[in-house]
Amino acid sequence: MKVVIAGIAALACLFLSTTEGSGRLFENNCGTIKDSSMGPKIENGRNANELSNPWMVAVFVGNVSMCGGTLISSRFVLTASHCIDMNYMKVRLGEYNKKNLECECVGSICTPRAIDIDVDKKIMHRDYEGNINDIGLLRMKNEVTFTDKIRPICLLDKYPEEPIAHLKITGWGENGIGETQPILQEATVEIYERKWCKRKLSMDPLDVSRICAGDTGEFSSDSCKGDSGGPLFAYVNEIGRTVQLGIISKGINSCSGLGSYTNVTHFMDWILGAVEYYKV
Ligand SMILES: *[C@@H]1O[C@H](CO)[C@@H](O)[C@H](O)[C@H]1NC(C)=O
Ligand SMILES: *[C@@H]1O[C@H](CO)[C@@H](O)[C@H](O)[C@H]1NC(C)=O
Repeated sequence: MKVVIAGIAALACLFLSTTEGSGRLFENNCGTIKDSSMGPKIENGRNANELSNPWMVAVFVGNVSMCGGTLISSRFVLTASHCIDMNYMKVRLGEYNKKNLECECVGSICTPRAIDIDVDKKIMHRDYEGNINDIGLLRMKNEVTFTDKIRPICLLDKYPEEPIAHLKITGWGENGIGETQPILQEATVEIYERKWCKRKLSMDPLDVSRICAGDTGEFSSDSCKGDSGGPLFAYVNEIGRTVQLGIISKGINSCSGLGSYTNVTHFMDWILGAVEYYKV
């Protein structure tokens, strides 16, 4: 699929300024949560807090949840290019525990646990190949209304300058022993020099378009099968919001140690161009 990149002047208006010097946001209403109990914690894979990841999306091919993704606006979901399939696709928003009942009732008022929306446009990177340019967008058939359970994550046009020690990854993918997780899992990872990923994942070239991250400690955390397309993100103090920095792209088969993530900042122009071109 071809995406025409619109002029820089037009793209500039898509961004909203944040504080001086820290870059501009793609969607103003982003990166905040209702649950204030989210603090930086360092553990291995663990259950995420229920309302801490309202941007988290389950990406379906047919009836099967294949990948993760993130809500970046009321109409678009960001995922990996390798998650995009020719068959029918839909996204599930507001999901947390896949084993919960379809509807949650308080007294006589019942609300659906999560909502499914059909994908009406699938946008792959034109030069996606293997693990290169592994970024894609899904346009939803209709806009969503933001709630405590459904909110977009921030995208910033500049890689944060403040040191970010710990980043998080989230997903419903398999744990180390091949079981998919009903409850959304989160893990903390660190950024590694690219040369480590190059060696361990034997990927070449591994350039600035990809981020090498993982946890090589004793109890290592990593992304696994089914987590692809989900976010690598951090709370950025400068702007007081949660910002997506990477997309889960490729790990080593054992799901422990290092993984390669698509560098979202590097692809900001591509994201803006695609959203502008396919907006309705
Ligand atoms: C989807 O699920 C329904 C109901 O469980 C089933 O009847 C249908 O065959 C499934 N479709 C696909 C494409 O797997
Ligand atoms: C991601 O890409 C941006 C823009 O090219 C770059 O400034 C930044 O250093 C990259 N991040 C990493 C961790 O490589």
